[in-house]
Amino acid sequence: MNTARLFRISATIFAVIAVAFGMGTYTHANFTNIHMLFGFIVALLLLIMSVITFFTAGLRILGVMGIIYALILPIFGIQQAVILVGDLHWLVETVHLAVGFGAVALIGVMGERFARSKRSVDNAATTSKAA
Ligand code: HEM
Repeated sequence: MNTARLFRISATIFAVIAVAFGMGTYTHANFTNIHMLFGFIVALLLLIMSVITFFTAGLRILGVMGIIYALILPIFGIQQAVILVGDLHWLVETVHLAVGFGAVALIGVMGERFARSKRSVDNAATTSKAA
């Protein structure tokens, strides 16, 4: 299994666990810390994938976007409980969920681009060897 695929699968699994514990915070407030732990793991996977992407030729901007996103995810996660407290708080919760799954989607996009770039480098190497 290639690295990009491994990152995508692990991020999806950790995000699903994070959502389960996140939902659990409605009834068990003490689930917050374990939820945040899994959230931080998703952010860390995104950060590692972004750094790999940053050092891949032609994917620098995508890498920078991923690094910024990986920093915003935990900052927003920690702050969200105090944003728009009241009737409209569901909006903040929905955005938090979207930002969380957005991180998984971004890991997927970066993985796809990274694999494509690696394939073209490998193909170029094979072609030059054959010539
Ligand atoms: C470092 C990353 C994260 C931090 C610090 C964080 C923090 C939090 C906190 C403090 C809560 C409880 C809010 C409250 O009691 O009002 C929460 C809830 C929740 N989180 Fe996260 N979270 C993170 C990542 C994620 C990710 C990656 C997902 C989904 C993929 C996610 C989905 C949810 C859901 C569904 C809830 C319950 C609804 C809500 O209150 O928004 N979180 N999160």
